[in-house]
Amino acid sequence: MTALTLSTAAAPGLRVDAIVIGVAKGSAAKTAGPVVAPGAEAVDQAFDGRLAGVLETLGASGAEGEVTKLPAPSGFKAPLVVAVGLGAQPDKDAGYDAEALRRAAGVAARALAGSRKAAFALPLTDAADAGAVAEGVLLGAYSFDAYKDTGASARNGKNGKAPLAEAALLGGKPRDKAFKAAVERATAVAEELNRARDLINTPPNDLNPEAFAAVAQAAAKEHGIKVQVLDEKALTKGGYGGILGVGAGSASGPRLVKLSYTSSKAKKHLALVGKGITYDSGGISLKPAGHNETMKCDMSGAAAVFAAVVAAARLGLEVNVTGWLALAENMPSGSATRPGDVLRMFSGKTVEVLNTDAEGRLVLADALWAASQEKPDAIVDVATLTGAMMLALGSRTFGIMANDDAFRSAVHEAAEEAGEPAWPMPLPEHLRKGMDSATADIANMGERMGGGLVAGLFLREFVGEGITWAHLDIAGPAFNEGGPFGYTPKGGTGSAVRTLVRLAERAAAGDLG
Ligand code: BES
Ligand code: MN
Ligand code: ZN
Repeated sequence: MTALTLSTAAAPGLRVDAIVIGVAKGSAAKTAGPVVAPGAEAVDQAFDGRLAGVLETLGASGAEGEVTKLPAPSGFKAPLVVAVGLGAQPDKDAGYDAEALRRAAGVAARALAGSRKAAFALPLTDAADAGAVAEGVLLGAYSFDAYKDTGASARNGKNGKAPLAEAALLGGKPRDKAFKAAVERATAVAEELNRARDLINTPPNDLNPEAFAAVAQAAAKEHGIKVQVLDEKALTKGGYGGILGVGAGSASGPRLVKLSYTSSKAKKHLALVGKGITYDSGGISLKPAGHNETMKCDMSGAAAVFAAVVAAARLGLEVNVTGWLALAENMPSGSATRPGDVLRMFSGKTVEVLNTDAEGRLVLADALWAASQEKPDAIVDVATLTGAMMLALGSRTFGIMANDDAFRSAVHEAAEEAGEPAWPMPLPEHLRKGMDSATADIANMGERMGGGLVAGLFLREFVGEGITWAHLDIAGPAFNEGGPFGYTPKGGTGSAVRTLVRLAERAAAGDLG
């Protein structure tokens, strides 16, 4: 990953490949043209104060996502200036929004792929801004090329450019505790988030439940996290009928991984549950061609939970965080669960499987019940659960459902603080009866309309009595099928990781809504 440093150096003397500066859209009251953001003073001076005009001549407007490259002015050791759009200029006295900085830094880092070292001279008003720029750089510079021909050695060749190797954040205060902490936090979170992206992008023939569990085990060992892996034998003995039922058709057996990070100073216990379907073919209710090519992403929830637990451990948060990864591969075969089968779940409830493609809720149900046995202060599950949630909220926003309004708001606030688009969704009681089963306690499918909410209502039945719970349906934002934008690459995005870390921080502060 890109190496980050805070620097007080002046831009002109830096021997780097590029100086990154910010450019914003001028507010309507003044000129309509672009304005140079604070941080770029040295560059502007070297242009005799005409930088805004130079940028306008080059077609820059300051719009978000825009990149304008220009030769560095005389007196600069760096050859190139990269001006990145920040969007609308903030009101007088207000700083730039952290998410605008994060996105701009990500766009610049992507534009600088193939370069070795860049200096970022973006407008920083405080340590939080430095953290946002650091996150944007580290997330934007991500690339997944483990499967490109000969891997790293082929980079800079026919397989594309190597990610930016080094970034110096100018205007940061390297000796200031808060600035150092912000960059350390950003580094830990981004490293784990990028690892989640790697897991999501890894093809399903290489990442089956056993392989995922092994990765989790190794990381847990490295970071002092207690880890327990239930294999098929242990799952059978324990009565985990949901996870076993979903994994029954696959040659690769299911796993339930429990990761326990504990702090001696913890006052709260947060449990995180992730859907970890390493490949979702739909099972006997097979998905048609066109709907299964990206289904390696169906373990994004488990990847997010894994990343968040490791990040919490690395940050030494004063909260206990337990992660539950419900791992299975959903495949059709002679041993697969059939539509019409009834599963006896870990909670004791029976479920009539009407559609084997509604498998996520089955593995989550067992993991939610397992998590409930420890009576945590709150449970959050994360899942690429329904196509319906994508239809409702689009491909960049995840839905939040909960059995407690205050907690749903707390999770939404955590998402906003982290810079992740999210929106509250209801759990309408009338949709429950659509899941009534003639044979079992409940069916795994209900009304088609409001399918995302139906799935949420199903999960609610497997949360222990009196336990606060929220459900994040990340089916839209988990996997980016379009082109890269901001700090978001194509493919696995690491959706929900930053929200979960933020929520763990809030829990450490005793604030769970
Ligand atoms: N993994 C899918 C949901 C999904 C779809 C995630 C598209 C990401 C992108 C899930 O297991 C699924 O197949 N859900 C079904 C449920 C239905 C059968 C009740 C769906 O949404 O169609
Ligand atoms: Mn499915
Ligand atoms: Zn699925």
